[in-house]
Amino acid sequence: MCGIVGYIGDKQATPILLKGLRRLEYRGYDSAGIAIMQPDGIFRERSVGKIEKLVGKLQGQTPEGTVGIAHTRWATHGGVTEANAHPHTAADGDLVLAHNGIIENYRELKKELGDVKYKSETDSEVLAHLIASFYEGDLRKAVMKALARVRGTYGLVVMHRKEPEKIIAARLGSPLVIGIGDHEHYIASDPTPMLAYTKRVTFLDDGEVAEVTKDNVQTFNLKDKAITKHIEEIEWNDEQAQKQGFAHFMLKEIFDQPTVFEDAIRGRVEAEEGTAHLGGINLTEKEMRNIKRVMLIACGTASYAAMVGKYAFERLAELPCEVDVASEFRYRDPILDEQTLVFVISQSGETADTLAALREAKRKGAKVRGIINVIGSTIAREAHGGTYIHAGPELAVASTKAYTNMVAILLLYALQFGRLRRVTVATGQRIVNALLAIPEKMQTILKQNDAIEAIADTYTRYQDMLFLGRGVNFPVALEGSLKLKEIAYVHSEAYPGGEMKHGPIALLSEDFPVVAIVTKNQLYDKMRSNIEEIRARKAKTFLIATEGDADIAELANDIIYVPNTMELLEPLLNTIPLQLFAYHMAVKLGKDVDRPRNLAKSVTVE
Ligand code: AGP
Repeated sequence: MCGIVGYIGDKQATPILLKGLRRLEYRGYDSAGIAIMQPDGIFRERSVGKIEKLVGKLQGQTPEGTVGIAHTRWATHGGVTEANAHPHTAADGDLVLAHNGIIENYRELKKELGDVKYKSETDSEVLAHLIASFYEGDLRKAVMKALARVRGTYGLVVMHRKEPEKIIAARLGSPLVIGIGDHEHYIASDPTPMLAYTKRVTFLDDGEVAEVTKDNVQTFNLKDKAITKHIEEIEWNDEQAQKQGFAHFMLKEIFDQPTVFEDAIRGRVEAEEGTAHLGGINLTEKEMRNIKRVMLIACGTASYAAMVGKYAFERLAELPCEVDVASEFRYRDPILDEQTLVFVISQSGETADTLAALREAKRKGAKVRGIINVIGSTIAREAHGGTYIHAGPELAVASTKAYTNMVAILLLYALQFGRLRRVTVATGQRIVNALLAIPEKMQTILKQNDAIEAIADTYTRYQDMLFLGRGVNFPVALEGSLKLKEIAYVHSEAYPGGEMKHGPIALLSEDFPVVAIVTKNQLYDKMRSNIEEIRARKAKTFLIATEGDADIAELANDIIYVPNTMELLEPLLNTIPLQLFAYHMAVKLGKDVDRPRNLAKSVTVE
């Protein structure tokens, strides 16, 4: 996936576009480029690497112009080179285009276009030439004719020198938002680049093309029929999308957790009734009672949040619950019916595999709800209902606060179903009170940041690690291990504690430390025995344990204590020390914490 920004108005476009690109850098950072409409032609500059490289190439100059487009790339077709960086040109530089997505039939189109001199290896440049080939003085019409020939996905912005006061934007499978200002418009892949200027936005839907001028936005479908769009108010603010004094977005987002957790549960729990009310379920009580099975579908970190959700649905609501990794879901002939409730869980709401799973589940007749962070995202809009997790903008590639809030919402749904089935008022009240106490307990853990940093310092020499947890803490181990892999590039594996002796124990040695979650719950004694087995193999141990458990310290080389809570809620707390551990490991190893190599924040290709 890539990031697109566009601006048209009275202000200078370059600073707005560069600032916007920085906000979208999480979407890709292989190369970046900018194109500005100028009286004598279109200025263009591109660079391999992050936005700052592009800024360096501009050498302090601000190309003048009040209309422009920009792009930050995560390479799909064609290597990471300046020639492959967007925006691409056609018609001798008169037409520029920035594209997010994949043009599947680009080879075919290339053949049809015949004798064109391509300057890049990208499918996007073929699209630029295709549009140019249809151009007869009306850019929107040319874009529409070209798109009628395209198979694939696109989020697209296009400008033409002969129509200097216009940007054409189009979307199919790749998000685009238009921000509405005062005699100005912003276009971007998500709302974060425009938060400083406007909260009023309209989301393009698939198959829509917008003609954007400084005073007007006209939207059409691909059959050239005008469409009336709704304007929505974005709740996020610009401050949330800044580092606020933290060294990295990831650290800031870890520290955001107590606050955004409150945002997630505020107004959604009822202390007296001991229940939760999530309107997005869109089901009557009778329909809820009729649900026989729950499926949770997601990728990566979101799938680990889903695994926690499975424990909650089964324990509180006695509902059989399956968790599927979205990329596998539709290839395994899942059995679904209208008594199956499917939740698709995604921070970005744009993950291609999760979106495909959603569509497949709908096709098979299941009721599909979204648990999503990004407002107006594709998955949020295509689901039959659902809930925003209110984590605010999450800009570090490694997901932290979105995970916590996904877990929170899944717990609330499980409680809501549970209260209709088997959970008593008293138990419901205990759960609600335990949830309300979580933010303060998170603060207690965050206060140990320095201690966790000191621990991380002693683990940087290891190449491999094992993460262990049992029950609800197995997904916590998986999440801790994923964080370490993706930002510190340290190999680690995660296993349920009881599985260790079925294989991975062979790996253990003085050079293979173990991070284990051994908090006081029903599996405490079992987990403790597993740690004894580790100690017998001389592996170093870093334990996450419950406050007051002095005994366990004898099995630990390093230990971080977390406050006690109900077992189902433990992942909300126990994950935080592991997030901080991975963060400090990455910093100490000199890695790019917020922009880890090869990754992009949301994976919009299959
Ligand atoms: C999280 O740290 C990862 N970068 C990744 O696993 C992510 O959770 C996954 O790609 C799913 O993204 P989504 O929540 O936006 O769908």
